[in-house]
Amino acid sequence: MSNIGVFIQVFNPIHNGHMLLMDKLKEKFGMDKILLVLSNISRNKYEQVALIEDRLNMCRLATKNCQQFEVYNSDKDLKNANQIFDMLQKVKSKFYFDGLYFIIEYGLMVSLNFCYAYGNIFDFVSIILIVFSEEEYLSAKKKIKKFGKNVSIIKLEIPNISSQYVRIRFAQGLGCSRYLNRDVEKYILKHGVYSQKGALFRECFDASGNRLSIKRFTHCQMVAKAAKGLAKIYHEDEKKAEIAGILHDIVKEKDKKSLLRIIQDEGMVLNPVEKSSPKIWHAIAGAIYCKKWLGIESEQILNAIRYHTTARKNMTKFEKIIYIADCISDDRKYREVDFERKLAKSDLDMALLFHLKLSIKQLCEKNCSIHPATIDCYNQLCNNFQKKCEEQGGDRHEN
Ligand SMILES: [Fe+2]
Ligand SMILES: [Fe+2]
Repeated sequence: MSNIGVFIQVFNPIHNGHMLLMDKLKEKFGMDKILLVLSNISRNKYEQVALIEDRLNMCRLATKNCQQFEVYNSDKDLKNANQIFDMLQKVKSKFYFDGLYFIIEYGLMVSLNFCYAYGNIFDFVSIILIVFSEEEYLSAKKKIKKFGKNVSIIKLEIPNISSQYVRIRFAQGLGCSRYLNRDVEKYILKHGVYSQKGALFRECFDASGNRLSIKRFTHCQMVAKAAKGLAKIYHEDEKKAEIAGILHDIVKEKDKKSLLRIIQDEGMVLNPVEKSSPKIWHAIAGAIYCKKWLGIESEQILNAIRYHTTARKNMTKFEKIIYIADCISDDRKYREVDFERKLAKSDLDMALLFHLKLSIKQLCEKNCSIHPATIDCYNQLCNNFQKKCEEQGGDRHEN
């Protein structure tokens, strides 16, 4: 009697994390073979799933030297619990006298309502639930109580490599040899699997849409729209502006502790003003997050996210666009917003100066400290403005 694992995943694309996980499972449960089954059920609402033909080919390339891993021969994606149940029955009839383990991520299983609809699956397969966090582990433990002996929970203790990171790298025209089998990487590059037009924006949209509430995500969409409009007026890269807009608040809904951890893990030390102003942490952590977990490489985008709350001296035109877009997006309702929207279209620096004044005034009224970078930016804009007035023969203020 052999032990057969059936691992269901989107594999979009298959990466070293999947391979490591399969190795570990094989060892832990004494599996003789693991069948890779492709599904089109993604936990991410907006995930762009590559064609099944490409994903199958990539799985075959990644496993071609591992005899214990075999790609399940199906030319269609499994889309629901019914199809998965049928597939498991087929596999069982083929390996009738063998032990069968069904390997599935806990979140996916819950979203399929699998346990409730297909309780009798436990009669012929053992289930291995993969969890990614302590919270998932505890919740899985509670839920599986009623199913008893045939379910094991495995907390993933391998580097959490995300397929989205891989796709975003390719959508930027970059490689990803760190996380992929060489042949899989070559395949993706040769066939342009993740580099279709607009793929980067769609991936960033997906990343943002899956990490934020609808209200915040809508704000990000509106900032992206405003940023694209301003980039067009001021001859900057519209696509990048849209991406920076959609990502600028990506970690805004994480708690303070998580934001601090992201910042500190990067070895960054906050200055006293930053320490006392948690509201600006999401900008610092956001830039780190986009680089580290999403694979964004553009310094333009990363700096625009980093400085979208404080601004800074010598801001680039691109950074100013994202800062202003965040202030004038369609969802903003403060008294002066219409004036600022008009100003932004005719003079970016004046719009920035106008908003800095508003924001400094508000902070002063609340007895909040002001970030030195904000003051630097404000002073620089004032000096430039005064110089311009002098050149045009106007008055310079006295002090
Ligand atoms: Fe923000
Ligand atoms: Fe924002």
